[in-house]
Amino acid sequence: MGSGDPNAQWFFVGEGPGEEENSSGKPFMGPAGQLLDQMLRSLGLQRDVGVYLTNAVKCAPPQNRSPHALECSACLPFLQQQIALIQPKVIVALGRVAAQSLLGVDGTLSALREQEHRLGSIPVVVTWHPSYLIRSPVDKARSWEDLCRARGFVG
Ligand code: URA
Repeated sequence: MGSGDPNAQWFFVGEGPGEEENSSGKPFMGPAGQLLDQMLRSLGLQRDVGVYLTNAVKCAPPQNRSPHALECSACLPFLQQQIALIQPKVIVALGRVAAQSLLGVDGTLSALREQEHRLGSIPVVVTWHPSYLIRSPVDKARSWEDLCRARGFVG
């Protein structure tokens, strides 16, 4: 479902678990998780301390494919309940699937990333998924800018 600090100020949403996450029960266990850990460290953060990690969908889609819109909407009530329980200061949507699912909108990652969003009173910052950043490190600098903007909401 997710893991982290029940009093987290930071709430990160990925796409969905892969096989490793499915068997361990923890999100972001593979290479994308390692990059996410580095991103957290750059912010002076670490997993489980003021940070909660979860995914748009709660079960691994077959063959590691991206979740379909219907799968995201089936899992959305769980994600909304997690947010209601944690009440973070900021939500970071990692990638298009997380952003579209959380915000209930269409649109490309680039478009969504440039817009300001809120879920109720909670600001939502959209940035690239770490798996994408592994493939396209050129966008890491702009992703860092997004994280710095998110940090502004935590205070
Ligand atoms: N692991 C996760 O838990 N979520 C992702 O989106 C990618 C890898």
